[in-house]
Amino acid sequence: MSAFVSAFPDKELDNNTSRAVELGGKRLLVCRASGELYAVDNRCSHQEAELAGGRIRGCFISCPLHGVRFNLKDGEPMGHLTRLAIATYPVRVVGGMIEVDVS
Ligand code: FES
Repeated sequence: MSAFVSAFPDKELDNNTSRAVELGGKRLLVCRASGELYAVDNRCSHQEAELAGGRIRGCFISCPLHGVRFNLKDGEPMGHLTRLAIATYPVRVVGGMIEVDVS
């Protein structure tokens, strides 16, 4: 069962930027990458650094601490520091608000 929760207005998120939010008890990162919206855990699977502020290119975000790149579509990492994917969440826009399915 889906559980979409309202995050913040869609117009507040510029392209290739991200914003950390806490929704449903989870620390998430909402990203707009190449025009697409994504929501992922705001915690790197290497040493748990926040991904907020990481550089976004294409559909990837780079961890600010050691630079592992994660695919925002499926959470899969690139490189050798970690093989663990980060969780991804369905995201949508309803009435101008970004909503994330935190179920
Ligand atoms: S903590 Fe993210 S790459 Fe090391």
